[in-house]
Amino acid sequence: MDSTGTAHVLPPKPKRLPGKVAVVTGGARGIGAATAKAFAESGAYVVIADILDEPGEKLADSIGARYIHCDVSVESDVERAVQLALDWKGRLDIMFNNAGIGGPCGSITNLKTEQLMALLEVNLFGVVHGIKYAARAMIKGKHGGSIICSSSSAAVMGGLASHAYTMSKDAILGVARTTACELGVHGIRVNCILPHGVPSELLLDPYRVLMGNPDLQPEDVTKIVGERASLIKGRGGTMEDVAQSVLFLASDESGFITAHNLVIDGGYTVANNLLSFIYQDFKD
Ligand SMILES: NC(=O)c1ccc[n+]([C@@H]2O[C@H](COP(=O)([O-])OP(=O)(O)OC[C@H]3O[C@@H](n4cnc5c(N)ncnc54)[C@H](O)[C@@H]3O)[C@@H](O)[C@H]2O)c1
Repeated sequence: MDSTGTAHVLPPKPKRLPGKVAVVTGGARGIGAATAKAFAESGAYVVIADILDEPGEKLADSIGARYIHCDVSVESDVERAVQLALDWKGRLDIMFNNAGIGGPCGSITNLKTEQLMALLEVNLFGVVHGIKYAARAMIKGKHGGSIICSSSSAAVMGGLASHAYTMSKDAILGVARTTACELGVHGIRVNCILPHGVPSELLLDPYRVLMGNPDLQPEDVTKIVGERASLIKGRGGTMEDVAQSVLFLASDESGFITAHNLVIDGGYTVANNLLSFIYQDFKD
């Protein structure tokens, strides 16, 4: 309503991913699901690739996406997920390598190579497969693309996760950096996101064990994480925080950004709040 009393209808906001085609691994729940929704709302055609078929199919139906059963540790599964995007819409613009698992916790003195390998197969090789097949499709398509890989705050700060998980997330930064160097000439950008403390199923399980409370709820995790944050106390990270960051990296708005590590942690990994009183002399 303006000063003359005339009502004005605002024009709809332009979509941020109009007609883009995306594959989201691990898109059936958690951060992947929130991102698949944000992509679809932004005008993208989304392929959800996961091993959780029922929630994956349900979500795909609700947002006009396609679902495919895909274990990212199996190279041919990832190839099929990318092929589905190509068969469906004839192109691939965005690959979100998000699928991941946690654990195993414990001392390095007890690390079991088989457990380490099982984790690397999903968290690291899954990302490598995603980059490989997305790059093939994007190079052939000759219209560039955006590949986003899910690392973790654990890749830049010790003591946040198991040795195996941390190794996998740190290695992702390496392969994203080298592939960004190789693929840049094709207009393909490769970036990483490093989320922290988002109360998904992946985080709930270890927190329930650590806190000795099997009934711990997502809001309890947010509270624990939020209390240690640098931003307003109690403000923990959400799946939507991560989804919006991925949306930015997927869109043309981030067209000059590649080989970047976007930490989404409310400042947690760069602030030691122990001495925060040294900044507290401002009185309003
Ligand atoms: N939650 C956090 O605070 C946090 C922090 C840092 C990084 N991350 C990363 O974000 C990503 C998403 O995790 P989330 O927190 O949403 O957890 P989540 O457990 O809710 O989601 C993980 C998804 O990956 C899928 N998945 C697991 N193994 C798979 C496989 N072999 N093939 C295909 N899909 C598979 C699961 O079925 C699930 O849908 C992970 O890579 C995780 O390491 C999360």
